[in-house]
Amino acid sequence: MPTGPEIILALKVLVSAVTVLFAASIVAIATGHRRLHGRINLAFFVLTMTTVLGFEVLLRIGTDVSASFSPEARQALRVHLVFAVPSALLLPLMLWTGATRRRRLHRPLAGVFLLLWTATVYTGLFTLPSE
Ligand code: HEM
Repeated sequence: MPTGPEIILALKVLVSAVTVLFAASIVAIATGHRRLHGRINLAFFVLTMTTVLGFEVLLRIGTDVSASFSPEARQALRVHLVFAVPSALLLPLMLWTGATRRRRLHRPLAGVFLLLWTATVYTGLFTLPSE
């Protein structure tokens, strides 16, 4: 059974990897490659959801990730989840509004998602203990 810090380290690696994809999709849309943006983000969606669900399963199987956390780390996890949970909820909506060309929804939501994702990655990489 992996320990809490091992799971967090794995998550840091996976989230960094999918963030490279997301960044590439932003470059794609900024340079007018709409279909490429859509395809990269489909991959981003599948990989991110797999990571989130895999993490959930690991938690349910019995590893209490935060069991060995200090009070500070517990607080950091709480702050991280304030951004991570809405990001994960918004992601299917991003895919749906993009794929069905609901521009008036997709564009404003994109701003919100970008802010939430940035905060999720920042707090995930720099405030959670992985050693
Ligand atoms: C900063 C984040 C994002 C920005 C600025 C952005 C922007 C855009 C824009 C401008 C379009 C073209 C449609 C239009 O004219 O409105 C588009 C299409 C699309 N977006 Fe996004 N988007 C972002 C994030 C996402 C995310 C997170 C997903 C999915 C998880 C996504 C999925 C799609 C899809 C599937 C399309 C349709 C592509 C096609 O027409 O083939 N986007 N996006």
